[in-house]
Amino acid sequence: MTRRDFVRSVGYYGSTAATGAMIALDLLGKSKAAAAEPPVSPVDQFGGKRPPRVLILGAGLCGMSAAYELGKLGFQCEIFEARPRSGGRCWTVRGGDRQTEVGGSAQTARFADGFYMNPGPARIPGHHASTLGYCRELGVPVEVFNNVNESAYYLVNGLERVRIREARVDLRGYVDELLAKAVRRDALDRPLTADDKEALIEYLRDDGGLSPDLFYKPTPDRANLSHASESRGYVYDDLPAAGAHPGRMGDPLNFETVIKAGFGRHLSFEHQFDQQPTMFQPVGGMDQIAKAFEKRVGAAIRFQTEVREIRRLPDGGVRLVVADLLEGTTREVEGDYCICTIPLSVLRDIPADFSPKTTDAIRQVPYMDVGKIGLQFRRRFWEEDDRIYGGISWTDQNITQIFYPNYGYLGSNGGVMIGYYHFADDAKKIGRLSPAEREAHALLQGGKIHPQFQAEFQHSFSVAWQRIPYNLGGWATWDETMRASLYPILNEPDGPFHLAGEHLTYLGGWMAGAFESAKAVVKTIRETVAAKAA
Ligand code: PHE
Repeated sequence: MTRRDFVRSVGYYGSTAATGAMIALDLLGKSKAAAAEPPVSPVDQFGGKRPPRVLILGAGLCGMSAAYELGKLGFQCEIFEARPRSGGRCWTVRGGDRQTEVGGSAQTARFADGFYMNPGPARIPGHHASTLGYCRELGVPVEVFNNVNESAYYLVNGLERVRIREARVDLRGYVDELLAKAVRRDALDRPLTADDKEALIEYLRDDGGLSPDLFYKPTPDRANLSHASESRGYVYDDLPAAGAHPGRMGDPLNFETVIKAGFGRHLSFEHQFDQQPTMFQPVGGMDQIAKAFEKRVGAAIRFQTEVREIRRLPDGGVRLVVADLLEGTTREVEGDYCICTIPLSVLRDIPADFSPKTTDAIRQVPYMDVGKIGLQFRRRFWEEDDRIYGGISWTDQNITQIFYPNYGYLGSNGGVMIGYYHFADDAKKIGRLSPAEREAHALLQGGKIHPQFQAEFQHSFSVAWQRIPYNLGGWATWDETMRASLYPILNEPDGPFHLAGEHLTYLGGWMAGAFESAKAVVKTIRETVAAKAA
């Protein structure tokens, strides 16, 4: 079926559905000729009746992608969004943007033109096919998000800051040394043939840069440069150069320090399935994904329209009471199905006719407290002084981590980094502070990693997701018990109500969760409609 045949076929069911389908297929404006053709070749997918009306609560990625997919199928959708913008957590903050948190602290971002922060999602794993698939389908250009940078720092356990490569090479070297010696002494509780032992030792020697007698002792002596010394790199104020400057290697940390420092905890992060290279970000801010969907389904979004009641009709349909926040009025809307993407943390306080077990489950699922701060500096000192281009520095202070920007490299008018990104108790504690206090805190702790902070700082913008209206949390956190008990309940349709969002997937806290959930719900509704029509 061509795109033209498809638009014609849905045209039979009325102009709204056809328009929806055309919006979904991005035909309006581009291909007016196709749109103007009279509808032919009717299909009987809705049993000859009008297309079902689906009321979608929330114009985040789940709600908009559901509308987009349903539009392709000829359904009529209307999306209710409390905010004046689409995207939900898929949000990019630029200069002039405002946010007032629950509890009243209001902020206006003062980032310079061209700078932004992504307070919500910031990185896309290469295996998140739904997210990248939509970027491809909707024409959202992406660039690499550098999640791992060996030049970034660890500041932990009261030690001086170290480059990640130094910590990594030292830790692996010492562990390889121990293991190689254990193999040589037959101290492994695993039988190995002589050949296996030699092969394993050879690998460990290579991996750890061990000496022939199996010691990890990288030498700063260039004449005997070992693989390990080379990997650990140079002292940054003495890099290899011309003439009499071969560069100076640093000394390894001692074994005890490396073990006590707990570097391994941070090192294992980058090996997590979800965090491995290659990761991506949309060029120009994460909201480019939301904007691409809004371009397709924007006509169906009712902005600044807050859902006040979610009701069940006697005929099996849905009735909503929604408030127009601009007009200060309320009205009722009816539909056949409801896709509710409102976070459970918010949904639990909206009067609704969910079944008792759904209501109970909605109340129980906990949400994560999450905080991020964007810091604008007048100079890209992390690049100019520290030679850090993107990636993350880690610390055991409660700012947890610093994200360096993965755009605007080598720029001469500064940049915006993420000065903290933390969860749970750290986020709760810092989220309680005023924006000015959060900023001072981020500068104080981050300044221990980068002494340039104080002199170069310009503006900040911070977000505590548990205090953002219409979110009241970062993402749902499931433990094994709730996964077994509540998750299946919430994933089942409750009459006309279909709950959806990242919280109802095994991709919690990822945009891919929103997309996968939307696809699953669209499939269920489509099958229900087909069964009724049959
Ligand atoms: N996706 C978010 C991130 O990359 C949050 C998250 C972290 C979700 C770790 C799951 C696991 O930081």
